[in-house]
Amino acid sequence: MGGSNPFIKQVETRLPTKKYSLTFLPMNVRVEVDPAKIPYSRDGQPGSILEIALGHGVDIDHACGGVCACSTCHVILREGLASCQPASEDEEDQLDNAPGLTPCSRLACQAVPDGSSDVTVEVPDWNRNLARESH
Ligand code: FES
Repeated sequence: MGGSNPFIKQVETRLPTKKYSLTFLPMNVRVEVDPAKIPYSRDGQPGSILEIALGHGVDIDHACGGVCACSTCHVILREGLASCQPASEDEEDQLDNAPGLTPCSRLACQAVPDGSSDVTVEVPDWNRNLARESH
């Protein structure tokens, strides 16, 4: 599925130019991200962790639809944080409301890995009730 969401404010990102792997914990779902297939779904920034997750049947809560207006898509980057663009001021503001904030926290709908390394994200347990694997 492709397309773009007109309510998403564009942030400056670097889309990957080569394939990389994105792993979701604790489900231990590993997907190969192919730059040619971005966007995989409609919610979140193109190439964001959220849109890739949704496009692979990994359901991360995203109450505002991926437009940086809540903090329900909070994830913790266990690997590959440096491959994502820095958080915008809007993202930082929303993250301030996220429970269990860590220095490696990001909003899944805003963080876009550039493919320079593999990425591992942990979906916090308060968000895990919706996380599932459909494959
Ligand atoms: S889904 Fe609301 S900020 Fe990401």
